[in-house]
Amino acid sequence: MLSQRLPQDLAPNPWAHRLEQRRARGEPLLDLISSDPTHAGLVDAAGALAALADPRAARHEPEACGLRSARQVVAASFSVPDAATSPEDVVLTASTSEAYAHLFRLLADPGETVLAPAPSYPLLEPLAALEGVRLESYRLRFEGRWRLDLDHLRAAVDRARSPRAVVVVQPNHPTGSCLSASEVDALEELCQQRGLALIADEVFGEFPRPGICAPLPTMLGSRRVPTFVLGGLSKSCGLPQLKLAWILLAGPEAARRRARAGLEWIADAFLSVSSPVQHALPGLLAGRGAFQARLRERLESNLAALAAASSGGDVELLPADGGWSAVLRLPALHTSEEWALRLLERDVVAYPGDLFDFEDDAWLVVSLLAEPAALAEGAARLVTAVREELVHA
Ligand SMILES: Cc1ncc(COP(=O)(O)O)c(C=O)c1O
Repeated sequence: MLSQRLPQDLAPNPWAHRLEQRRARGEPLLDLISSDPTHAGLVDAAGALAALADPRAARHEPEACGLRSARQVVAASFSVPDAATSPEDVVLTASTSEAYAHLFRLLADPGETVLAPAPSYPLLEPLAALEGVRLESYRLRFEGRWRLDLDHLRAAVDRARSPRAVVVVQPNHPTGSCLSASEVDALEELCQQRGLALIADEVFGEFPRPGICAPLPTMLGSRRVPTFVLGGLSKSCGLPQLKLAWILLAGPEAARRRARAGLEWIADAFLSVSSPVQHALPGLLAGRGAFQARLRERLESNLAALAAASSGGDVELLPADGGWSAVLRLPALHTSEEWALRLLERDVVAYPGDLFDFEDDAWLVVSLLAEPAALAEGAARLVTAVREELVHA
């Protein structure tokens, strides 16, 4: 009855199953994976809801790519100094997930391929599958910093059936890594040679790691290939429930014009962005500094707790450029999932790395938005668990 676009097995993995059981019983757990800013006490939700009551929204004025006033404010907020984005190069969507769906529809026919990094955001695979598009991974490898394995990417492009686009996530979720300037250059050259578009997910682009002063790199600006840069309210303002995101177009003028016309046609079939949130957008974006400052404080205190817990050397806290997650490398005594299950026995919830397609070794991922006392206690229990296992090894 169901299409092949859905997974044939909808059962959760053993860790997710165990977590579901424990939550269903209402057992108290130290939650180190909660990453919804509206649950973390960081958002002025009342202010955001009040902004939705703009009387102009009483009248429906559908515009497929979004109201010009809303596109204008996105263009002004996210332009880079040397190449301003025009409001014509902004397309609004209801979420970044919807932006991915529109782009896969725009760029790929069913059975064609999009390449995406691994480890990375686990939703890319189902989003591609839902559009009938194949997703091939290319590897990022940790060698003191996360590096693009360019040979692996080239081989993946060669192997792929009709490759159409490469996704980059900057900073990447969950590694928090960005490509170096030379990696971007090599990637762009490959895309140009092979006629591939670039999709750059920059939803965490405004969240550098504490201590990093320079702005994080962006794919906006003058590009040699058709480029689509994604962002949205769910991260920039911590308001995922308002359902507004954007695609910014960069790259050669003629390709941009064609892409814009195609996206307009796709978006017109859905008209999914609500009028109230579009009218509220200028005020929401103008006020995002206060949320981002509160979030930065949370990142700082949670990173300090993780650094202190990992100072003994049994657990390694990986360096990162930005984002809301931290990656921990554990001794390879167990798989990532086994470690996550062992932690769950100690009432600590951390993601096993295989959910994000880490290869080899043992990795856990935690949210830096977690409640600070829970994170500190959870990290202490993790270190104790690792020490006990090392003694028995
Ligand atoms: C890399 C990345 N892109 C996109 C999203 C989702 O954004 P949205 O809520 O706009 O769909 C997330 C959510 O965690 C993410 O980690």
